[in-house]
Amino acid sequence: MHVKMADRIVLLALAIAAATGCSNDQSQKTVVAPAAQATATRESVRDGEALFRQYCASCHPDGGNVSDPGRTLHRSALKSNHITTQEDIVRIMRKPLSRMIRFDTSTLSDEDARTIAEYILKTFR
Ligand code: HEC
Repeated sequence: MHVKMADRIVLLALAIAAATGCSNDQSQKTVVAPAAQATATRESVRDGEALFRQYCASCHPDGGNVSDPGRTLHRSALKSNHITTQEDIVRIMRKPLSRMIRFDTSTLSDEDARTIAEYILKTFR
């Protein structure tokens, strides 16, 4: 009887600790922090379409370009601007020509940047 009571108290204490969930809150914050996204492991790398939508689609909807119609992401436009490989596209993310915002490695890892570049080359023809 005594032992059982003690067990219950321990269980109750554990339940309260879990319910107050301090450590849970913290892990959620870490997940949405930009720094955590940059250090994403292989398994958690998002697919190119999701990345493109998150970082590029506001200015490049459907592969277009809202402020510079001569610089869309369609193959013919890319080609006429001498952009033909994944590396060419990643280079532009790292060092844009003029008005485009810059994406450094703390925003997009090299792997994410290459994933986006691959998506662009495959998708916008
Ligand atoms: C704030 C708006 C904006 C965002 C966001 C943006 N771009 Fe751009 N992008 C531009 C503009 C404007 C240009 C034209 C060149 C310049 O002004 O730098 C451009 C040009 C480009 C070009 C060259 C196209 C060509 O035909 O020469 C590529 C490639 C490109 N962007 C890729 C991306 C990728 C990949 C992303 C997302 C990671 C992205 N852009 C996000 C505005 C944007």
